[in-house]
Amino acid sequence: TNNVNNIDISFKGASVSGNEAAYKRIRIFDTTLRDGEQSPGASLEPGQKIILARQLAKLGVDIIEPGFAISSPGDFAAVQQISRELHNVEIAGFARAVKADIDAAVRATVDAARRRLHLFISSSDIHLDFQLRKSRDQVLQIAREMVAYGKQFVDEIEFSPMDASRAGREFVIEMVEGVIAEGATIINLPDTLGYAMPEEYGEMFRVVREQARGGDKVSYSAHCHNDLGLAVANSLAAIRAGATQIEVTVNGVGERAGNCSLEELVMAIETRKEAIGAVTGIVTSEIYETSRMVSRAMNFPIAYNKPVVGRNAFQHESGIHQDGLLKNRNTYEIMDPEAMGIPRSMIVLGKHSGRHAIKHRLSEYGIMMDAPQLEDVYNRFIEKADELKLIPDSVLIGLASETTETQ
Ligand code: KIV
Ligand code: ZN
Repeated sequence: TNNVNNIDISFKGASVSGNEAAYKRIRIFDTTLRDGEQSPGASLEPGQKIILARQLAKLGVDIIEPGFAISSPGDFAAVQQISRELHNVEIAGFARAVKADIDAAVRATVDAARRRLHLFISSSDIHLDFQLRKSRDQVLQIAREMVAYGKQFVDEIEFSPMDASRAGREFVIEMVEGVIAEGATIINLPDTLGYAMPEEYGEMFRVVREQARGGDKVSYSAHCHNDLGLAVANSLAAIRAGATQIEVTVNGVGERAGNCSLEELVMAIETRKEAIGAVTGIVTSEIYETSRMVSRAMNFPIAYNKPVVGRNAFQHESGIHQDGLLKNRNTYEIMDPEAMGIPRSMIVLGKHSGRHAIKHRLSEYGIMMDAPQLEDVYNRFIEKADELKLIPDSVLIGLASETTETQ
């Protein structure tokens, strides 16, 4: 009965075969403290970064990028302290393809139990012509030299050709080949401006994997921005095309419209794991707490209708939906909010609510109504709802006591 057109509609993969090995394990690379912090106005003190990094480790992310070590003494200290303290998570030292950046990232992460260097340089002509003012050959040479330089200190090198989705495909392939030859082990193909369409983004991974020499020996990562609201869709397309790491931020914070949101991506994979064929190591019950902590620390409110963690994500106002939910939650919910640490799904009483929901809410307070009493409460409730929009439980209880007193 939980199956519609062969789509599993039960919560949390209840009907999954149990063969987890059939699912690809996706590594979650959290860049809330680096790219996320680039959200206008969202900057963090080193102490706040350390507290958030502890929570990210508890959430079960695989890699944390704690900051940009060269950018300020505070960021250097935060990267250093997080590397010293959190030994159950890999640390990414972020650096431009510049020796001074690499030196700072190497020094700041030296005490990490596991670390990688994450190097980037632009790859699109628009960036090369107007920002770097360098030719493709010059940029290619810098990329190769800096990967070779970083490789002397750190085995694991992630390389990002920035703005890859708007770059010439043949140049991205050439760059990827070049950095693999120098020892890069992870290739991240960023959609820096959130410009790509899912099919195109997936196709880029397929082509690079197949055509770049050595492309079958490295792992692939997606890094998507949300300018067109496609960051999660693009990341899922990359998974389908072979990516095994996805870069995300909590609440989707980040430059402009933000990055791929951790909670949306993880819950898409969790909820539709059979369709996607993947799993993550995220402890979903920590999602809500992590989201609240990041929102508070960055002073960054979450939109009411934000998927998964928004105030309204599990609230139901319409009478038809409320009626269905009271009979079986799967009627109007595809995720169990409690599995994400969200207290419970809420039936919000307002003008779209029906008698069934009102009766149920009153019964939760031990107030039982017979049919005429309920009818009376309902009629006065509807009038009140026009005035107040949402009816708090205290007002409903007031209406019910007036009814029982006058009858
Ligand atoms: O969006 C981007 O391209 C980045 C990188 C430099 C990985 O944040
Ligand atoms: Zn980015």
